[in-house]
Amino acid sequence: MGVHSGALKPLRAKAGRALAGRVRVPGDKSISHRAFLFGGLASGRTRVTGLLEGEDVLATGRAMRAMGARIERDGEAFLVDGVGNGCLLEPAGVLDFGNAGTGSRLTMGLAGTYDFTTTYLGDASLSARPMGRVLDPLRLMGTQVLARSRDRLPLSLRGPRVAAPISYRVPMASAQVKSAVLLAALNAPGITTVIEPVMTRDHTEKMLEGFGAAIEVEQDAHGVRTIRLEGQGELKGVADFAVPGDPSSAAFLVVAALVTPDSDVTIENVLMNPTRTGLLETLAEMGASIEVLNERSSGGESVADLRVRHSALKGVDVPADRAPSMIDEYPILAVAAAFAEGTTRMQGLDELRVKESDRLSAVAAGLSANGVEHREGEDWLSVTGRPDGRGIGGGTVATHLDHRIAMSFLVLGLACEAPVTVDDATMISTSFPEFTGLIERLGGTLESAEA
Ligand code: S3P
Repeated sequence: MGVHSGALKPLRAKAGRALAGRVRVPGDKSISHRAFLFGGLASGRTRVTGLLEGEDVLATGRAMRAMGARIERDGEAFLVDGVGNGCLLEPAGVLDFGNAGTGSRLTMGLAGTYDFTTTYLGDASLSARPMGRVLDPLRLMGTQVLARSRDRLPLSLRGPRVAAPISYRVPMASAQVKSAVLLAALNAPGITTVIEPVMTRDHTEKMLEGFGAAIEVEQDAHGVRTIRLEGQGELKGVADFAVPGDPSSAAFLVVAALVTPDSDVTIENVLMNPTRTGLLETLAEMGASIEVLNERSSGGESVADLRVRHSALKGVDVPADRAPSMIDEYPILAVAAAFAEGTTRMQGLDELRVKESDRLSAVAAGLSANGVEHREGEDWLSVTGRPDGRGIGGGTVATHLDHRIAMSFLVLGLACEAPVTVDDATMISTSFPEFTGLIERLGGTLESAEA
């Protein structure tokens, strides 16, 4: 299942030269999943450029093919011929999502209200993650859930003959849950309402509108969003859909350049959607030199080039309400904080416990292994840095099948006194297959740590 063939691939990062150069990061993971999902559902053809060819996204592509979409490569682009809204086919086999929370949860929403059966599999990490958050609203719409262990993968869904539209208040800050309900609503008659008390990434709303869905969003004075979607309407393919560069992947290169002495790196074409830029805001408060250049619009989103130079960072307090706009960036922020003068306090981190790993404890364990001073609470973390990296490093970090833990601690190793080893680099290919190559191209030193 998934990318893991069984053998671990330990990798080590060590301090060396300054990082320098211009690079591009691959397409945004959230938007790439949605390009396959919505392109595969809409009638007609969607031509997608800039797609992330990571394992997670490829699994979503296979699932959409299994339900009738045609997806083929055309040079740099992918041509997606969709089935038409309401016309997914029952897949013949199981849908294996490997490590991918977004792919599995959004597909459960998309297919879960159809009058047929779908079965979902995942790797050890995905099989340990809570699925009740998407199964609960699906049950309200009439979907039956069959799971061996309660609300965990593997599981099967059987949709009703006609799904019921619902009004649903999303109980946690989760774009995946919001999106799963909206996708389920595409196959329900009438209007489904999703209430989102705290705004999370809005790619589903924006993209569904682009594909022609009848969707409206209202926001009240307290920031509570009400999203209404009328189901069973037509969705039409988008002639040219360009996926912007992934800010959550760029984050590793941004922090690598900030903490490695004398570095000067430019990362091109990074998505600047405000629901994704919390890390940049935090790093700016820490004193980072990050120039946002050439800001422009691409496919309905704002993108920019980021010029990042080595900077003296200082510890800051990161407010809990910033968490949704940087939820995937806390592991790499903890690494930046390990080189900052003073203490960085991060709050509102409860959702980190249910990511590809329990990221709060995985980060804390990785910091411990490398002698970085920190404290871990139920939903907070504080890290006290060593501005020159002196006296830290030298540890081996358990990555727990989590790509972002692997990449974060390799970045730590690029600038601390002693090298840092991660026990397994395989999972990096789920979201950022080019990571090791780009770090080396910029001048960083990575080496195999196989015994
Ligand atoms: C994502 C939403 C977030 C994020 C994940 C991608 C999405 O998950 O962590 O990497 O594409 O909707 P949650 O919805 O669980 O916060």
